[in-house]
Amino acid sequence: MPSVETPDVNSIDPTLDLFAEIDRLRKEKKAVILAHYYQDPDIQDIADHLGDSLDLAKRARDAKEAEVILFCGVHFMAETAKILNPGKTVILPDLDAGCSLAEQCPPDQLRAWKAGHPDHFVVMYINCSAGTKAESDMICTSSNAETIINSIPKDRPILFGPDKNLGAFLIKKTGRDMDLWPGACMVHETFSSQKIIKLKAKHPGAQFIAHPECEDHVLLLADFVGSTSKLLQYVQEDAGKQYIVGTETGILHTMKKHAPAKELIPVPYEDRTAACQGCNSCPHMKLNTTEKIYLALRDLKPQINMPEELRKRARLPLDRMLAIS
Ligand code: 13P
Ligand code: SF4
Repeated sequence: MPSVETPDVNSIDPTLDLFAEIDRLRKEKKAVILAHYYQDPDIQDIADHLGDSLDLAKRARDAKEAEVILFCGVHFMAETAKILNPGKTVILPDLDAGCSLAEQCPPDQLRAWKAGHPDHFVVMYINCSAGTKAESDMICTSSNAETIINSIPKDRPILFGPDKNLGAFLIKKTGRDMDLWPGACMVHETFSSQKIIKLKAKHPGAQFIAHPECEDHVLLLADFVGSTSKLLQYVQEDAGKQYIVGTETGILHTMKKHAPAKELIPVPYEDRTAACQGCNSCPHMKLNTTEKIYLALRDLKPQINMPEELRKRARLPLDRMLAIS
């Protein structure tokens, strides 16, 4: 269901130079534009700061001069910006840009899970709502998850959610005793190991690099596993020439810019069927457009707000994460 605040892009004068207008408005409103690597190339190009979930949370926390944070990403990311920097006006171009992974673990269900495991330490992936964060002991992102898990006393069992694939990857990496919430990312869990094996056979010189939100059978094929920032860094610094990229397709834009000599092969690469025209594209992230960015800056909405009591409770596990990241 579209939200009541869905922007009316048809009301925009079609002759308007949107890029010039966005530039003018960002100065006029003293706005900083933060964008995730999964945004469309045009949006990545207009951002003041581009990054993964952890980078952008830090940018939002540290935004001092700006009065407005325009978050080009999904709802939980903009919400995190508001939790960390409540004095700013935080706007999201499309309020319907949610995250189906984040929605899989609502706060009441996490409370019930915790009640059955009173001795466990609760680590939640940042891809969750403020209400779910407020029920957690610590937050992690895909960039710092291993460090976060290793920081927890060895004798403490862990509840981890909502991404079971990242959780399973962390159990393998750290050897920790963790119960996993059965959530998954709709983009990363569609990657097929058969397609990747075929791609590897077709491009024998290529390395397969993957995000830890992928399923175990996919990660087993990977030469390198890391968050979006770490995948980008790997392609830039590694001596290889060809990479099969196992994450959302938006990252390819910035990878190409930073490593123009490298050949980047998205998964799925070819043989897309009618049922899968773009399984490597996140439909939530892609709800943001330059038209909606223009309207959001012009009207300073949709805004992200929450009760102060909830914000403070959600901030605590985020601060614990940031203290060691
Ligand atoms: P990172 O930004 O931590 O790589 O996570 C990717 C993602 O799926 C964000 O929704
Ligand atoms: Fe959520 Fe996956 Fe989209 Fe990230 S890529 S916003 S985890 S659905």
